[in-house]
Amino acid sequence: MDALDIRNLRKEFLFDGGRFPALKGITLSIPAGMFAVFVGKSGCGKTTLLRLVAGLEEPTEGTVGVRGGGAPLRTGIVFQEPRLFPWLTVEENIAFSYRSMGKRPTEETLSALIESLGLTAFRRAHPSRISGGMAQRASLGRTLLYDPDIILMDEPFSALDYFTRAALRDDLLHLWQERRKTVLFVTHDVDEALCLGQRIHVMDRGEVVRIFDVEDDYPRDIASMSGLKREILDAIGNGTCCGAHHAKEKAAEA
Ligand SMILES: Nc1ncnc2c1ncn2[C@@H]1O[C@H](COP(=O)(O)OP(=O)(O)O)[C@@H](O)[C@H]1O
Ligand SMILES: [Mg+2]
Repeated sequence: MDALDIRNLRKEFLFDGGRFPALKGITLSIPAGMFAVFVGKSGCGKTTLLRLVAGLEEPTEGTVGVRGGGAPLRTGIVFQEPRLFPWLTVEENIAFSYRSMGKRPTEETLSALIESLGLTAFRRAHPSRISGGMAQRASLGRTLLYDPDIILMDEPFSALDYFTRAALRDDLLHLWQERRKTVLFVTHDVDEALCLGQRIHVMDRGEVVRIFDVEDDYPRDIASMSGLKREILDAIGNGTCCGAHHAKEKAAEA
C-alpha cells in the first residue's frame, strides 16, 4: 500500500476578524504500516492535522493524499472521549459504523475482535455500566471493525488514569503488530510518544519542527530513552508559555 503524502498543508481559521494559521505548510510522508506519533503542546495544531487527514476539514492550501495517486485512503478516527451511543450495548456500538455502511459483521469476526479488546464479559453491557478504559476499548473496536487504511487517534488515552492508560497502550501496540495498519497518534505526553512511536513528529505553533525515527523494540524501556526525551522536550520549546504566546501571535496576525 502507498504511503500517506502530505504536501504544503496549510489551514487558516478566522480569528478576531483576521486569519490565523493553525497549520503553516506541512510537508511529510508516512510509509504504510508505520506507527507515527505527533507530539506537541495544546494549540500547536495536532487535532487540525488529523481532521484534515480524515477529510473533516478542507485545507486552505496543499494536499493530503497517497503517493502515486492511488484510491483515496479510508481513515477511521478515535477521539479523546469514547463517543459511544448510550442506548446501544458495547457490541452494538462496535458494530455501528460497520452496519451504517450496510454491512453486517459475522459473529466470528465480532467475537474475535471483542475478545482481543478484552471486552467479552461486557459485550452486552451499556456504556453507563463500564469503565472509561473499557469505553475507549469499545471505541477503538468500532474503528478496527470498520477496517480503515489509516487509524487516526486524537489523544485517545488522555482522560484515563495512569494504569489504565499504560494497559491500553500495550494493547494498542499488540493490535497494531497483528494488523500493521498505518497509525497517526496524537498526544501531548512525551512519555507516551516514546512508548509508541516508530517515528515521532514534534509540532510547535502549526509546524512540524523535528522528526525522530526511533529504532527501539517494543515494549520500550522509557527510562533508557532519557536522551531522546530531552531532545523532544527541547524541540517542543520548553520556555514558551503556549497560551500566552498564541494569543499574541494571533493578535499580531489578525
Ligand atoms: N474551528 C476552529 N476555528 C478557529 N480556530 C480554531 C479552530 N480549530 C482550531 N483552532 C485553533 O487552531 C489552533 C490549533 O488547534 P488544534 O489543532 O485544536 O490544536 P491541538 O490539537 O494541538 O491542541 C488553536 O489555536 C485553536 O484555537
Ligand atoms: Mg487537540
